[in-house]
Amino acid sequence: MWIFSSTHLHKLLFVWTRTMQSPASKSISQFASYHGSAAVLCPKDSAINPVERRRHNRQKPVVSARWQEHEGSLPSKVWKTEIPVLHKKNQRKGDDQRVSSELRKLCLEDFPAERERLERQKSALSFKAEDCEIVFGIAPCLLALTQGRRKAHNLFVKDGEASQRASVLKVCEEARRRGIQVHRVSKKDLDKMSSGRVHQGVCLRASPLSYLTVDRGIAPNKKDTPLWLVLERIQDPMNLGAILRSAYFLGVDRVASSLRHSCPLSSVVSKASSGTMEVMEVYGYENLEDMLTLKAAKGWQVVGTVGAAAVENEIPVAECSDFQMTKPTLLLIGGEGEGLSRELLSLCQTLLTIPAGRQLIPSIESLNVSVATGILLHSLLSSRRSTR
Ligand SMILES: *[C@@H]1O[C@H](CO)[C@@H](O)[C@H](O)[C@H]1NC(C)=O
Repeated sequence: MWIFSSTHLHKLLFVWTRTMQSPASKSISQFASYHGSAAVLCPKDSAINPVERRRHNRQKPVVSARWQEHEGSLPSKVWKTEIPVLHKKNQRKGDDQRVSSELRKLCLEDFPAERERLERQKSALSFKAEDCEIVFGIAPCLLALTQGRRKAHNLFVKDGEASQRASVLKVCEEARRRGIQVHRVSKKDLDKMSSGRVHQGVCLRASPLSYLTVDRGIAPNKKDTPLWLVLERIQDPMNLGAILRSAYFLGVDRVASSLRHSCPLSSVVSKASSGTMEVMEVYGYENLEDMLTLKAAKGWQVVGTVGAAAVENEIPVAECSDFQMTKPTLLLIGGEGEGLSRELLSLCQTLLTIPAGRQLIPSIESLNVSVATGILLHSLLSSRRSTR
């Protein structure tokens, strides 16, 4: 069980503790672990590439100490320790107790308010580290707060002049309005929270977003000729983010994705989407084939995409600019490596290509998938407007 400890507040005011199973060790002072940093620094973010993850996992625990040793005055070397990085659940057991510098700082800064608030909400704070991730960047943090689809826990803002920028102040204001604690931390701490990504001086610790799997029904502004964008196995979070941003901007009615072999809706995707991910409902399907078959039976047209080269198909191929969107349409986009699977291709009634503007040298025949998606969406949606 994870609980918040308000004992020994003279030094550590913001410490999550783990009580041991045996009744004899129920007392927090016997065994406490400082694993707040696990939640702060290690969001469940499968978008972190495997190399990066392996690198983190290899890092040795930096601080390892029992609570008793910390009673009285803490050794100064502990306080100067770098923020440790935790990754595996089981690493939190035993001697793997760590102190996180940004949390220590918070403790000192926000003592009275924090203590009072957290004491009232002890049970509410018994979160699991796995339920949190770090949202970073101004637009993602702002929209995460205002859209309210995540449970937000703490906002971290870069200390100093930057925190006075209007955009940053706006994020802080939205956090305060929702009773979310705002903490001033160093740039270095923010860099670590965002794994070195561009955070623009703000990070938000919040619950993750996931694909919607239950249909929320028809959007209120139902279009007579809706366009759904269907993504199969998009794996690069930057691509997914860019695609969501374009889909939102251009007015796609729904984004659907295969759940398997697709990049999760991580904070990296949110940043790449410039926060669009916080606003848009992105649906996930175990089985895209079933969904497409059902839609086709209801009169939707299923439109696939192929590179300029691949034309040995029985399905008619058209240039995207020649295509008129007169019916509800599903536009299928395949992943970076393989493109659309054979199964999905076989369901397509038409395949669209983007005509090249020059003679292409073999091996540079394709577009970036997010760029291609933007072009195709623009083509289809313009043709929809002109047919009305
Ligand atoms: C494609 O372009 C986007 C920007 O639109 C970029 O973020 C992404 O990393 C690119 N993908 C690949 C696979 O290069």
